[in-house]
Amino acid sequence: MERWAGKVAVVTGASAGIGAAIVEALVHHGMIVVGLARRVDILKDMAENLSEEKGRLYPLKADVSDEAQVIHAFQWVKENLKTLHVLVNNAGVLGDIPISEKLDTKVFLRIFDVNVIGLSVCTSEGLKLMQESGVDDGHIFHINSISGQYIHPTLGAGQYPYMASKHSVTVLAEGLRRELVEKKSNIRVTSISPGLVKTEIFDVSHDRRATTIFDNNPALNPQDIADALIYALGTPPHVQIKELTIKPVGEML
Ligand SMILES: NC(=O)c1ccc[n+]([C@@H]2O[C@H](COP(=O)([O-])OP(=O)(O)OC[C@H]3O[C@@H](n4cnc5c(N)ncnc54)[C@H](OP(=O)(O)O)[C@@H]3O)[C@@H](O)[C@H]2O)c1
Repeated sequence: MERWAGKVAVVTGASAGIGAAIVEALVHHGMIVVGLARRVDILKDMAENLSEEKGRLYPLKADVSDEAQVIHAFQWVKENLKTLHVLVNNAGVLGDIPISEKLDTKVFLRIFDVNVIGLSVCTSEGLKLMQESGVDDGHIFHINSISGQYIHPTLGAGQYPYMASKHSVTVLAEGLRRELVEKKSNIRVTSISPGLVKTEIFDVSHDRRATTIFDNNPALNPQDIADALIYALGTPPHVQIKELTIKPVGEML
């Protein structure tokens, strides 16, 4: 990881759960990290708590589902930090929408606006900044899910729009990798697909399983996903970890 010290990273969804753990790990390894989220006050507290670490966290308020806010955020990175080496597309939401009933299109759109379109706009803006500043050894991560790898046999009704969004992320990660190969770019792309992770995602997404899911299923910690990202980032520049699927031991999903 030494070669990443002093380099610039952007992490979306940095204020909680997996994103917050990734921010802490990158700052610990000396990276200059710009954390994006809507709850900027949490990011400011995190920056304060990380002030003794080798790297640094810059808090930035942005809703990734708002294209103008994303463009503005990457403009801020360009003006203040000049470049970008690592982008972690982590911001994501769940939604509980049975597709055999009257559709809640508002929630359906929200899932795709954040998990798919927001991720794609961040990727486009991040890649542009890498290329403009001559970074050809950058790394783009999509925090995907086991829901992007196969259709769960047990989660059942309400989860399919989220699974569809994460299957889109699988296609977008591999598509990006192939487009970069065609362009003879050395920028790496990694999809990280966790099983269940103990975070607030079920609560904030008003998922009906929020109160029971962690009682009934084994779960990973956000730190476990940050460790996986650090492993993929720390491999030599010619090594591309395309996909990492990480399940808690004992998970049936
Ligand atoms: N937890 C799991 O079991 C699990 C399993 C597999 C994959 N994942 C994936 O891992 C990623 C992180 O999930 P998590 O469990 O850590 O969720 P979480 O605890 O709910 O945290 C989500 C983060 O995303 C941010 N966010 C949500 N909507 C946003 C928006 N419109 N614009 C900017 N930031 C936004 C939130 O910040 P603000 O609210 O401050 O904006 C928060 O920092 C997601 O992509 C999720 O699909 C999670």
